Amino acid sequence: MRDATPQQDQTVYLKDYAPVPVTVTHVDLRFRLAPMATVVSARLTCKRQGSGNMVLNGEMLTLKGISIDGETLNADAYATTDTTLTLYDVPDAFTLETEVEIAPQANKALSGLYMSGGMYCTQCEAEGFRRITYMLDRPDVMATYDVTITSDLPVLLSNGDESSRGKWHDPWPKPTYLFALVAGDLVATSDSFTTSEGRDVVLNVWVRPGDETRTEYAMDSLKRSMEWDERVYGRAYDLSVFNIVAVDDFNMGAMENKGLNIFNSKYVLASSDTATDADFANIERIVAHEYFHNWTGNRITCRDWFQLCLKEGLTVFRDQQFSQDERGFATQRIGDVLSLRARQFREDAGPLAHPVRPESFVEINNFYTATIYEKGAELIGMLHRIVGSEGYSKGCALYFERHDGDAATIEDWLACFEEATGRDLTQFKLWYTQAGTPRLIVTEHFNDGTYRIDLEQIVPDTPGQTGKKPMPIPIAFGLLDRDGMEIRKTEVHVLTDRTDSLSFDLSERPVLSILRGFSAPVILELERSDADRLTLLAHDTDPFNRWEAGRVLAKDRLMHAITEDANFDDAWLDAVAKLATDAFADPAFRALALALPSQDDMAQSLHTAGIVPDPDRIYAVRRAAQLAIATRLQAELPQLRIAMATPGPYDPKAQDAGKRALAGKLLGFQTFLDGGAAARAAYDAADNMTDRMAAFVCLLDAGDPDIAARFEEEWRHDRLVMDKWFMAQIANTPPRDAVHLADDLTRHDDFDASNPNRFRALIGGLTAGNPAGFHNPNGKGYEFLADWLLYLDKSNPQMTARLSTAFDGWKRYDADRQDLMRAQLERMAATPDLSRDLSEMLDRMLK
Ligand code: PHE
Ligand code: ZN
Repeated sequence: MRDATPQQDQTVYLKDYAPVPVTVTHVDLRFRLAPMATVVSARLTCKRQGSGNMVLNGEMLTLKGISIDGETLNADAYATTDTTLTLYDVPDAFTLETEVEIAPQANKALSGLYMSGGMYCTQCEAEGFRRITYMLDRPDVMATYDVTITSDLPVLLSNGDESSRGKWHDPWPKPTYLFALVAGDLVATSDSFTTSEGRDVVLNVWVRPGDETRTEYAMDSLKRSMEWDERVYGRAYDLSVFNIVAVDDFNMGAMENKGLNIFNSKYVLASSDTATDADFANIERIVAHEYFHNWTGNRITCRDWFQLCLKEGLTVFRDQQFSQDERGFATQRIGDVLSLRARQFREDAGPLAHPVRPESFVEINNFYTATIYEKGAELIGMLHRIVGSEGYSKGCALYFERHDGDAATIEDWLACFEEATGRDLTQFKLWYTQAGTPRLIVTEHFNDGTYRIDLEQIVPDTPGQTGKKPMPIPIAFGLLDRDGMEIRKTEVHVLTDRTDSLSFDLSERPVLSILRGFSAPVILELERSDADRLTLLAHDTDPFNRWEAGRVLAKDRLMHAITEDANFDDAWLDAVAKLATDAFADPAFRALALALPSQDDMAQSLHTAGIVPDPDRIYAVRRAAQLAIATRLQAELPQLRIAMATPGPYDPKAQDAGKRALAGKLLGFQTFLDGGAAARAAYDAADNMTDRMAAFVCLLDAGDPDIAARFEEEWRHDRLVMDKWFMAQIANTPPRDAVHLADDLTRHDDFDASNPNRFRALIGGLTAGNPAGFHNPNGKGYEFLADWLLYLDKSNPQMTARLSTAFDGWKRYDADRQDLMRAQLERMAATPDLSRDLSEMLDRMLK
């Protein structure tokens, strides 16, 4: 074999994109499954399309044989490294055959072919296929597939349609990352769907025996998603079977493999007994998301991984639209914005900030981020607002027609909207290339019958990017009079320059409702009176801005209490009480409005305001605020809780879920007053997991000495419920005990670091669930996290890198905490043999 110099870990650049010189048009795969020695025989139909050698990807493969057009290759016709197979001087058209051996049982990275609870499954996005066989493992190489699986296991699945047991054919050309294989002892819940094109589709949800009682909601969500995509986007399904498989060990939420979606079991299995309303909502959203990928991702895929937002931003936008239709616009939008601010704004404000379309990466797995997904979705939302509903439909229709079967780019996507609507989107594209959350500074002026709003945008510097250009910001706004009557309905002004002004002839100064529906992902800065905010909270026709007004009031109170020891004033507490008791308002909305900004949200806001956040102080002030609200509501609480009862059997529908959400919030306040008496009764009476968890959290919070053991006793047999047990305890223990408890729980019999859900429950319980505990000034939280990251990095780099982002806000804090965090980041960085995933994250955070 020839020598090939091994490739160093390298940065990949968008500007270096070039098509492959030799492509693959058909893949024929044969698997002989065995835990430690699976044999994969591949026959690739190859075709030259440019000049140069053919370089295939391959990792952790043992090459057993290689031939071209039936002739075994001479040693000087090819070369391998740890990550490549190079073929020299290949003909214009040929068939490459390879045979490799792999060990799925030893694969703890959960990328490629691996085993979970006795079943075989795959995860190929982004670059896992290269751990299965030698192949051009990149999204612009699209091929049809034939797959033959040999195994004694009863259920053998792959993409496409099955012709006989274990033999699958997928007629739709696809990139490697959409390949999937599953083999195991599984049972299906089956149903069917007839598409608008008259195709009969068999729907299966495959789970381990015993779990089939918990598949109903996922199946129902799937059917509603199929119907919705036909009705709203005109997209129908294109195979005769659609399979979903639930897997216990899975790094992410789920994966959209063609015709064979693989899910983290957490996002499939649900019964009223074991899943909360939030779990049901997540299942609905993620089933829809993966299904919607069939068109936005699979039929039209990405040319390269820099275009990841092309499929993810668009598909998140589509699943958000779906959830709004299913669950109500306002509460869904508020939830999505909360998540955007908590995850994406945080990311955008720190060392990991990157554009929605990055220009370079070291490890692509590190770019499945809130920025690509959630900000990516916001960009589609803004585009929708700018071109209007009709323009949006036309642009989408052109995109589906023109690019079906393509591996496309953001430029392709935007060109469809330019052509369909006649608009120039050159400036809009800056949203894809400039990182950082813009600040929108608004000032109001009223003078002699003229009301003027001055607008200014500032796009902040981010790592590697300075001196940014202004971007088009769609600003939806309306005006109310002093009594709260709307005097101008919603209109959209697109701010394109750095500054701009709007003027109105009015006899009286109005109340401005701006950024309605959160029409752009920006930080709004607008100084104004409490009176205006209270008017909006009570009267705005835009429910998002009603909620937002309450949010700003609350945040303002917390800020003052943190920085100046201010008390919580009656005017605010009255407004909160009014909302809580407003029987005409939607319970789900009231629950959202009663939730105070999170501890991390406060830390973020303080930092933005130039104040160093003190996690203990934030924790204490938030609790004081909760106590103040509880005290103010004392007389009404029992009645309010009774009014939220949901008679009859548990129903996951949004209406009942909203009542339970409000009841849970109220129980939280009650617990501040009665030490847990009501929660104890609620726990005993609970007939569903939503109510039970709400009571459990209250009892943990009240320091009930027995409740953790009781819950464990009752739910020990259920992995998904036990994840909640691990997380809730750590999140709801006093900060000074949090690290100690987390450390104790790592020695619990049921703690299993190799299971991503369990690991995330424990680590996330501390870093996200108990920030004051994580940031304990003794530095033990940082040390604990670093120890576990170093441990997990040896087996599962992808998970490790994701969890390392708990450190990404380190520069917000005081000098002592910064020193402690930097010391841990440096200790990790100095450890030999780190994964590429973790070392890239550490590099970026330490820069
Ligand atoms: N593409 C998946 C989704 O968005 C996410 C994913 C990425 C899953 C990488 C696994 C690995 O639904
Ligand atoms: Zn996705």
